[in-house]
Amino acid sequence: MKKILALTLALGLSASLLAGCGGSGSSSGSADNAAGSDTEATAEDSAASEQLVMATNATFPPYEFVEGGDYEGIDVEIAGKIAEKIGRELKIEDVEFDTLIGGVQSGKYDMGMAGMTVTEERKQSVNFSDTYATGIQSVIVPDGSSITTVDDISSETKIGVQQGTTGDIYASEDYGDDAVTQYKNGADAVQSLIAGKVDCVIIDNEPAKSFVEANEGLTILDTSYAEEDYAICVSKDNEELLGEINDALGELKSDGTIDSIVEKYISAE
Ligand code: ARG
Repeated sequence: MKKILALTLALGLSASLLAGCGGSGSSSGSADNAAGSDTEATAEDSAASEQLVMATNATFPPYEFVEGGDYEGIDVEIAGKIAEKIGRELKIEDVEFDTLIGGVQSGKYDMGMAGMTVTEERKQSVNFSDTYATGIQSVIVPDGSSITTVDDISSETKIGVQQGTTGDIYASEDYGDDAVTQYKNGADAVQSLIAGKVDCVIIDNEPAKSFVEANEGLTILDTSYAEEDYAICVSKDNEELLGEINDALGELKSDGTIDSIVEKYISAE
Protein backbone atom coordinates (compact mmCIF):
# COMPACT_ATOMS: atom_id res chain seq x y z
CA MET A 1 0.00 0.00 0.00
CA LYS A 2 1.48 3.30 -1.08
CA LYS A 3 0.36 5.71 1.53
CA ILE A 4 2.92 8.40 1.65
CA LEU A 5 2.32 10.93 -1.04
CA ALA A 6 4.42 14.01 -1.26
CA LEU A 7 1.47 16.11 -2.06
CA THR A 8 1.63 19.79 -1.41
CA LEU A 9 -1.21 21.07 0.66
CA ALA A 10 -2.28 24.50 -0.27
CA LEU A 11 -2.20 26.04 3.14
CA GLY A 12 -4.13 28.97 1.79
CA LEU A 13 -7.11 26.67 1.87
CA SER A 14 -7.07 26.77 5.59
CA ALA A 15 -9.21 29.86 5.61
CA SER A 16 -12.16 29.95 7.87
CA LEU A 17 -14.34 26.94 7.94
CA LEU A 18 -16.25 28.61 10.67
CA ALA A 19 -17.80 30.97 8.18
CA GLY A 20 -20.75 28.75 7.51
CA CYS A 21 -21.06 26.91 10.74
CA GLY A 22 -23.95 28.71 12.28
CA GLY A 23 -26.52 27.38 9.89
CA SER A 24 -29.81 26.75 11.57
CA GLY A 25 -31.64 25.10 8.76
CA SER A 26 -30.07 21.70 9.10
CA SER A 27 -32.14 18.74 10.12
CA SER A 28 -29.51 18.01 12.66
CA GLY A 29 -31.63 17.41 15.68
CA SER A 30 -30.57 18.05 19.22
CA ALA A 31 -27.35 16.73 20.62
CA ASP A 32 -28.72 16.33 24.11
CA ASN A 33 -27.98 12.69 23.96
CA ALA A 34 -24.40 13.11 22.84
CA ALA A 35 -21.46 11.22 24.26
CA GLY A 36 -22.33 7.60 23.96
CA SER A 37 -26.03 7.93 24.50
CA ASP A 38 -27.54 4.61 25.24
CA THR A 39 -30.71 5.10 23.37
CA GLU A 40 -33.43 2.62 22.78
CA ALA A 41 -33.78 3.41 19.12
CA THR A 42 -32.19 0.76 16.99
CA ALA A 43 -32.26 0.24 13.29
CA GLU A 44 -34.88 -2.44 13.76
CA ASP A 45 -37.25 -0.02 15.45
CA SER A 46 -36.44 2.61 12.90
CA ALA A 47 -38.05 0.91 9.95
CA ALA A 48 -41.36 0.96 11.80
CA SER A 49 -41.00 4.54 12.89
CA GLU A 50 -39.52 5.61 9.55
CA GLN A 51 -36.34 6.80 11.14
CA LEU A 52 -32.95 6.65 9.51
CA VAL A 53 -30.49 6.05 12.34
CA MET A 54 -27.09 7.48 11.54
CA ALA A 55 -24.18 6.70 13.83
CA THR A 56 -21.43 9.28 13.88
CA ASN A 57 -18.71 10.63 16.14
CA ALA A 58 -19.38 14.32 16.44
CA THR A 59 -15.89 15.45 17.34
CA PHE A 60 -14.79 15.98 13.79
CA PRO A 61 -15.32 19.51 12.46
CA PRO A 62 -16.34 20.46 9.79
CA TYR A 63 -17.93 17.05 9.06
CA GLU A 64 -19.71 16.54 12.38
CA PHE A 65 -19.59 18.48 15.60
CA VAL A 66 -21.92 19.78 18.27
CA GLU A 67 -22.67 23.47 18.37
CA GLY A 68 -25.18 25.12 20.64
CA GLY A 69 -26.59 21.71 21.49
CA ASP A 70 -27.18 20.75 17.87
CA TYR A 71 -25.38 18.47 15.49
CA GLU A 72 -23.83 20.44 12.66
CA GLY A 73 -21.52 19.75 9.78
CA ILE A 74 -21.15 18.51 6.24
CA ASP A 75 -22.10 14.90 7.01
CA VAL A 76 -25.03 15.95 9.17
CA GLU A 77 -26.46 18.11 6.40
CA ILE A 78 -25.87 15.59 3.63
CA ALA A 79 -27.47 12.90 5.80
CA GLY A 80 -30.46 15.18 6.35
CA LYS A 81 -30.91 15.50 2.60
CA ILE A 82 -30.55 11.75 2.07
CA ALA A 83 -33.16 11.05 4.74
CA GLU A 84 -35.49 13.55 3.10
CA LYS A 85 -35.06 11.87 -0.28
CA ILE A 86 -35.75 8.41 1.04
CA GLY A 87 -38.65 9.62 3.15
CA ARG A 88 -37.32 8.88 6.60
CA GLU A 89 -36.57 11.04 9.61
CA LEU A 90 -32.89 11.38 10.43
CA LYS A 91 -31.87 10.33 13.90
CA ILE A 92 -28.27 10.87 14.95
CA GLU A 93 -26.42 8.70 17.44
CA ASP A 94 -23.13 10.11 18.67
CA VAL A 95 -20.84 7.18 19.49
CA GLU A 96 -17.14 6.40 19.82
CA PHE A 97 -15.60 6.24 16.37
CA ASP A 98 -14.21 2.76 16.85
CA THR A 99 -17.66 1.33 17.68
CA LEU A 100 -19.32 2.65 14.52
CA ILE A 101 -18.62 -0.21 12.17
CA GLY A 102 -19.57 -2.91 14.68
CA GLY A 103 -22.84 -1.12 15.39
CA VAL A 104 -23.68 -0.83 11.72
CA GLN A 105 -22.69 -4.43 11.11
CA SER A 106 -24.94 -5.69 13.90
CA GLY A 107 -27.88 -3.61 12.72
CA LYS A 108 -27.91 -1.28 15.72
CA TYR A 109 -27.60 1.68 13.36
CA ASP A 110 -28.83 1.96 9.77
CA MET A 111 -25.71 3.70 8.56
CA GLY A 112 -22.41 5.13 9.69
CA MET A 113 -21.37 8.54 8.45
CA ALA A 114 -18.36 10.13 10.08
CA GLY A 115 -15.86 11.35 7.52
CA MET A 116 -15.24 7.65 7.27
CA THR A 117 -12.52 6.45 4.96
CA VAL A 118 -13.18 3.51 2.67
CA THR A 119 -10.58 0.81 3.36
CA GLU A 120 -10.25 -2.77 2.15
CA GLU A 121 -10.28 -3.98 5.73
CA ARG A 122 -13.49 -2.17 6.62
CA LYS A 123 -15.07 -3.52 3.43
CA GLN A 124 -14.79 -6.97 4.95
CA SER A 125 -17.30 -5.88 7.61
CA VAL A 126 -19.63 -3.39 5.94
CA ASN A 127 -20.63 -2.07 2.54
CA PHE A 128 -19.71 1.46 1.52
CA SER A 129 -21.79 3.86 -0.53
CA ASP A 130 -20.35 5.83 -3.42
CA THR A 131 -17.87 8.36 -2.11
CA TYR A 132 -19.06 11.88 -1.45
CA ALA A 133 -15.81 13.56 -0.38
CA THR A 134 -12.08 13.05 -0.24
CA GLY A 135 -9.76 13.45 2.68
CA ILE A 136 -6.06 13.65 3.30
CA GLN A 137 -4.24 12.47 6.40
CA SER A 138 -2.29 15.51 7.54
CA VAL A 139 0.36 15.97 10.16
CA ILE A 140 0.04 18.70 12.82
CA VAL A 141 3.21 19.80 14.64
CA PRO A 142 4.00 22.64 17.04
CA ASP A 143 5.47 25.72 15.35
CA GLY A 144 9.24 25.32 15.08
CA SER A 145 9.12 21.53 15.30
CA SER A 146 12.10 19.56 14.02
CA ILE A 147 9.55 17.55 12.04
CA THR A 148 9.26 19.55 8.84
CA THR A 149 8.15 16.84 6.39
CA VAL A 150 6.48 13.46 6.68
CA ASP A 151 9.91 11.88 6.12
CA ASP A 152 11.07 13.23 9.48
CA ILE A 153 8.58 10.95 11.26
CA SER A 154 10.11 7.71 12.51
CA SER A 155 9.53 4.99 15.08
CA GLU A 156 11.16 7.39 17.56
CA THR A 157 8.46 9.99 17.00
CA LYS A 158 5.62 10.24 19.49
CA ILE A 159 2.53 10.29 17.31
CA GLY A 160 -0.95 11.17 18.57
CA VAL A 161 -4.06 9.87 16.76
CA GLN A 162 -7.78 9.34 17.25
CA GLN A 163 -8.31 5.73 18.18
CA GLY A 164 -9.43 3.44 15.36
CA THR A 165 -9.02 6.00 12.58
CA THR A 166 -6.96 5.47 9.48
CA GLY A 167 -4.37 7.84 10.96
CA ASP A 168 -4.07 5.38 13.84
CA ILE A 169 -4.00 2.31 11.62
CA TYR A 170 -1.45 3.64 9.12
CA ALA A 171 0.85 5.17 11.73
CA SER A 172 0.85 1.95 13.75
CA GLU A 173 1.67 -0.04 10.61
CA ASP A 174 4.41 2.31 9.49
CA TYR A 175 6.08 3.24 12.77
CA GLY A 176 4.97 0.53 15.21
CA ASP A 177 2.43 0.55 18.02
CA ASP A 178 4.93 1.95 20.50
CA ALA A 179 5.25 5.17 18.53
CA VAL A 180 1.51 5.78 18.54
CA THR A 181 -0.64 7.16 21.34
CA GLN A 182 -4.37 6.74 20.82
CA TYR A 183 -6.84 9.34 22.05
CA LYS A 184 -10.62 9.20 22.23
CA ASN A 185 -10.91 12.07 19.80
CA GLY A 186 -8.83 14.43 17.71
CA ALA A 187 -9.25 17.34 20.11
CA ASP A 188 -7.71 15.32 22.94
CA ALA A 189 -4.79 14.38 20.70
CA VAL A 190 -4.27 18.03 19.83
CA GLN A 191 -4.39 19.07 23.51
CA SER A 192 -1.74 16.49 24.19
CA LEU A 193 0.37 17.92 21.37
CA ILE A 194 0.06 21.40 22.87
CA ALA A 195 1.09 19.98 26.25
CA GLY A 196 4.19 18.47 24.64
CA LYS A 197 3.23 14.88 25.33
CA VAL A 198 3.35 13.91 21.65
CA ASP A 199 5.48 15.30 18.80
CA CYS A 200 2.80 15.33 16.12
CA VAL A 201 -0.82 14.43 15.45
CA ILE A 202 -1.92 12.58 12.33
CA ILE A 203 -5.50 13.40 11.42
CA ASP A 204 -7.74 14.23 8.46
CA ASN A 205 -6.96 17.56 6.83
CA GLU A 206 -10.16 19.49 7.44
CA PRO A 207 -10.36 18.69 11.16
CA ALA A 208 -6.62 19.45 11.27
CA LYS A 209 -7.27 22.93 9.87
CA SER A 210 -10.04 23.54 12.32
CA PHE A 211 -7.92 22.45 15.30
CA VAL A 212 -4.99 24.56 14.12
CA GLU A 213 -7.25 27.58 13.73
CA ALA A 214 -8.68 27.11 17.19
CA ASN A 215 -5.28 26.81 18.90
CA GLU A 216 -2.18 28.99 18.86
CA GLY A 217 1.22 27.69 17.89
CA LEU A 218 0.38 24.76 15.61
CA THR A 219 1.25 24.12 11.98
CA ILE A 220 0.13 21.59 9.38
CA LEU A 221 2.97 20.08 7.36
CA ASP A 222 2.98 20.78 3.64
CA THR A 223 3.40 17.11 2.88
CA SER A 224 0.48 14.86 3.57
CA TYR A 225 0.53 11.33 4.84
CA ALA A 226 -2.24 9.61 2.84
CA GLU A 227 -5.14 10.36 0.51
CA GLU A 228 -8.55 8.85 1.06
CA ASP A 229 -12.21 8.67 0.01
CA TYR A 230 -15.07 9.20 2.43
CA ALA A 231 -18.27 7.18 2.18
CA ILE A 232 -21.28 6.04 4.19
CA CYS A 233 -21.22 2.51 5.58
CA VAL A 234 -24.24 0.23 5.69
CA SER A 235 -24.75 -3.35 6.85
CA LYS A 236 -23.99 -6.00 4.24
CA ASP A 237 -27.51 -7.28 4.94
CA ASN A 238 -29.10 -4.04 3.80
CA GLU A 239 -28.46 -3.78 0.07
CA GLU A 240 -31.78 -2.00 -0.33
CA LEU A 241 -30.75 0.92 1.86
CA LEU A 242 -27.37 1.05 0.15
CA GLY A 243 -29.14 1.45 -3.19
CA GLU A 244 -31.37 4.19 -1.81
CA ILE A 245 -28.41 6.04 -0.35
CA ASN A 246 -26.48 5.82 -3.61
CA ASP A 247 -29.47 7.06 -5.60
CA ALA A 248 -29.90 9.97 -3.21
CA LEU A 249 -26.17 10.78 -3.29
CA GLY A 250 -26.22 10.70 -7.08
CA GLU A 251 -29.03 13.24 -7.21
CA LEU A 252 -27.45 15.43 -4.52
CA LYS A 253 -24.19 15.43 -6.45
CA SER A 254 -25.68 16.24 -9.80
CA ASP A 255 -27.96 19.02 -8.57
CA GLY A 256 -25.09 20.73 -6.75
CA THR A 257 -26.45 20.20 -3.23
CA ILE A 258 -23.35 18.43 -1.97
CA ASP A 259 -21.05 21.09 -3.41
CA SER A 260 -23.01 23.84 -1.77
CA ILE A 261 -23.04 22.08 1.60
CA VAL A 262 -19.27 21.57 1.37
CA GLU A 263 -18.76 25.21 0.37
CA LYS A 264 -20.73 26.35 3.36
CA TYR A 265 -18.23 24.73 5.68
CA ILE A 266 -15.00 24.76 3.68
CA SER A 267 -14.06 27.92 1.89
CA ALA A 268 -12.41 27.14 -1.44
CA GLU A 269 -9.76 29.64 -2.29
N1 ARG B 1 -11.19 9.40 8.00
C1 ARG B 1 -10.71 8.76 9.19
C2 ARG B 1 -11.19 7.34 9.24
O1 ARG B 1 -12.12 6.96 8.61
C3 ARG B 1 -11.11 9.48 10.45
C4 ARG B 1 -12.57 9.67 10.65
C5 ARG B 1 -12.90 10.15 12.04
N2 ARG B 1 -14.24 10.59 12.08
C6 ARG B 1 -14.89 11.10 13.17
N3 ARG B 1 -16.10 11.51 13.01
N4 ARG B 1 -14.29 11.18 14.30
O2 ARG B 1 -10.64 6.53 9.93
